[in-house]
Amino acid sequence: MNKKNSIDVCLSPELLHLYSLENTIVVVADILRATSCMVTALASGAKSIIPVKSIEECLAMKQQGYLIAAERDGKKVEGFDLGNSPFSYMDKQLQGKTIALTTTNGTQAIKLSENAQEVLVGAFLNLETLCRYLETQTHDILLVCAAWKGKVNLEDTLFAGAVVEKLEKKFTIANDSALMAKMLYQQSKNNLLATIEQCSHVQRLKKLGIEKDIEFCLQHNLYQILPKMQNGWLVASDFSQLSA
Ligand code: MLT
Repeated sequence: MNKKNSIDVCLSPELLHLYSLENTIVVVADILRATSCMVTALASGAKSIIPVKSIEECLAMKQQGYLIAAERDGKKVEGFDLGNSPFSYMDKQLQGKTIALTTTNGTQAIKLSENAQEVLVGAFLNLETLCRYLETQTHDILLVCAAWKGKVNLEDTLFAGAVVEKLEKKFTIANDSALMAKMLYQQSKNNLLATIEQCSHVQRLKKLGIEKDIEFCLQHNLYQILPKMQNGWLVASDFSQLSA
């Protein structure tokens, strides 16, 4: 019988040095809100997103004619076209456009994963499409939680657990972080909003008056889109169009 590929969870980018990215498909998750925004933007017709590490680098992209978006500590950065609310990415004006984006954690995690065989972006919003793609793949899978400034967070871990639960029949759970994430999701999935309400970033967002983003980002399978990094740009992969 063929040996199964593995599925693992890296709970924070600070732990990425412990994992090999060679021959590995990485899925980056930043549920509140970077990857939820990216999925929403591409599903709403944006052409591509360029994840950028620094504010300065992102600002410079304006000169090249791109729309620019920046969030730090949950807030839209002054002087940018967009922040990091998924509702901003539903704007029809963005259709066909490329957006350079930098966020506190999500875009950093993508950049840190770029040596992987493939880098995908996942959210509850595209969970089903993501898992349908992953179950056809014959590489190890690493779910990379964007976390919060290096510290493990609840919402990204719950998402990782949801993916592990869906794929555990086809992939071997590699380490306890994947097992823990799955168990956490299984005990919370019927009450996800109440569970997430307790997490630090929800408190942070609520203090900023950002409430509606939270519930929106917890919706499952709103979009059938599979964002994949191609030459430094995040685009909707062909698979998502086929599976729509
Ligand atoms: C992040 O990058 O951690 C998030 O996107 C922050 C946010 O949008 O609130």
